[in-house]
Amino acid sequence: MVNILEVVHDESLPKENWWGKNCVCQINDFWFLPKFLPSTIRVLNEFKPLPNDVILASFPKTGTTWLKSLVFSIVNRSSKESLVKHNPHDLVPTLEVQVFGTTHQSSSITTHDESHSTRLYSTHIPYQLLGNTFHSSNCRVIYITRNPKDTLVSMWHFTNKWKDADQDGPWHLEEAIEKFCSGVFPGGPYYDHVMGFRKASLEKPKNIFSITYEELMKDTKIHVKRLAEFLGCPFMNDEEVDEIVKNCSFDILSSYEVNKSGDFPSWFQVPYNSFFRQGVVGDHKNYLDAKTIERIDALTRDKFHGAGFMY
Ligand code: A3P
Repeated sequence: MVNILEVVHDESLPKENWWGKNCVCQINDFWFLPKFLPSTIRVLNEFKPLPNDVILASFPKTGTTWLKSLVFSIVNRSSKESLVKHNPHDLVPTLEVQVFGTTHQSSSITTHDESHSTRLYSTHIPYQLLGNTFHSSNCRVIYITRNPKDTLVSMWHFTNKWKDADQDGPWHLEEAIEKFCSGVFPGGPYYDHVMGFRKASLEKPKNIFSITYEELMKDTKIHVKRLAEFLGCPFMNDEEVDEIVKNCSFDILSSYEVNKSGDFPSWFQVPYNSFFRQGVVGDHKNYLDAKTIERIDALTRDKFHGAGFMY
């Protein structure tokens, strides 16, 4: 077990090649991009959530952007103007990227409404590392997860859009599959990340809300209402919910200039438009062959089904 308080640089940590020249470093069984290691450690050591904070947690590429737009809209109600002007990641900053990263920003950017007491943040840090921090206050956590095969395919596309992707050569799908299955993946292993939060949400349902991308896709309206109830701000009328569902839909959000932009944010090496690709369930069928699907399904059965979580 690495003592997180003592980790100040990555040289002492296990390291594995992930893609091209990019490595990932391991802290207590989870893999991180070295770039975000210092800020991740700062989050673990310094972040003190307030009881009203809401943290959106996820494994990368499982629907974080969508969840950010929805929760921002639920908390702030009239959100359209903000969503037109800002990418959801600039409305709900990620703890280990914008908040404790090199481009340190104040928490006041979280709601654009300084009088509002709810601070919204997101994180990809696993529950196994951040759980104690959450429970140091009564803050609420919303975890989104997604079918592993769609998550893998989404990450593969996303990584190939990185600024230095050309330099490193493309990340071949076969390599991505191997890395995903072995768990050597930023935030990975995926299965442990998911199980950490799923189990915690069963143990502490008042504090940790868990939802899947597929559930949200099947009936966004119902789940937006459930999220609002969980956050203690239920809706009084259906029209408001319909408006939020529409404003946060893939088609509407991805049509905004800010989200079509090829500009790079200050905090990561992908253009803003790479957060919106297909936005559908089951796209993996267009990329993975039958053997790979069976391989990942077997892994999923082994890791999830025993714990009663079906995918
Ligand atoms: P695809 O690559 O399968 O299209 P994250 O936000 O965690 O990075 O996840 C990105 C995935 O969510 C991408 O999936 C992206 O297209 C999809 N996505 C982004 N905004 C969405 C929205 N409003 N509705 C549904 N899916 C969305």
